[in-house]
Amino acid sequence: MTSTIFAANWKMHLGPGETRAFLDTFLSGYAARPDREVWFFPPAVSLETAAQRVTDRPDIRVGAQNVHWEPKGAYTGESSVGMVHDTGSRAVLVGHSERRHVFGETDEETARKVRAVLATGMVPVLCVGEKLGEREADRTLEVVHRQLGALEDIDGHGLDGIVIAYEPVWAIGTGATATPADAATVHAAIRSWMTAHGATAAAVRVLYGGSVKPGNAEELLAEQEIDGVLVGGASLQPDSWTQICTVPVD
Ligand code: 13P
Repeated sequence: MTSTIFAANWKMHLGPGETRAFLDTFLSGYAARPDREVWFFPPAVSLETAAQRVTDRPDIRVGAQNVHWEPKGAYTGESSVGMVHDTGSRAVLVGHSERRHVFGETDEETARKVRAVLATGMVPVLCVGEKLGEREADRTLEVVHRQLGALEDIDGHGLDGIVIAYEPVWAIGTGATATPADAATVHAAIRSWMTAHGATAAAVRVLYGGSVKPGNAEELLAEQEIDGVLVGGASLQPDSWTQICTVPVD
């Protein structure tokens, strides 16, 4: 059995000083558990601080929230995969809904980013998910399949190195969560798409994100189809994050 992933997306919160203080508190109260991994996605300016703080914790991984696909150049404000890797990061969120819907990132840009991340040996965490209107129009699977198209010509070996995060846009930061059964249906569709494109079934990992809290993490993770969680707001306090990271999993 693969381990459960507890991933914290800090978005634009916690600079280097706050990251150090957070990790000092979290690490003093959270001991490694063999059935799970904890991944942190701090802002770019905090990556190196975070990665250095967890070098003695193989159960903890640090990753970036975004990258540019070009190795270097005149791209003000951007970071390349090589730069991100050099901070000690080992994963990158790609296509988060805020990148898509606030910054206008396209499916094509998302696809380029996935390839650039894979080329460095880091793990892309491809985020997919439908908006409320799309769900209401019963278009959830159509949207998710279109977004998975970013992986279309990656071979099975490559797909095995990718994590998918299903984050319904209407559930992000709203307090509304997909029911565990609804999420599991979409996760099953994602798993089928991945295996149909050559991924090894046992290697496919699909996280759920969208208003995950200490009070609902256990029931979500009880679903066989949910391999981990990607958490925004409730990952910003060491207390609530520790509560989430210590919920029982099968
Ligand atoms: P919330 O947990 O704040 O809803 O955010 C989810 C998210 O976007 C994680 O990437």
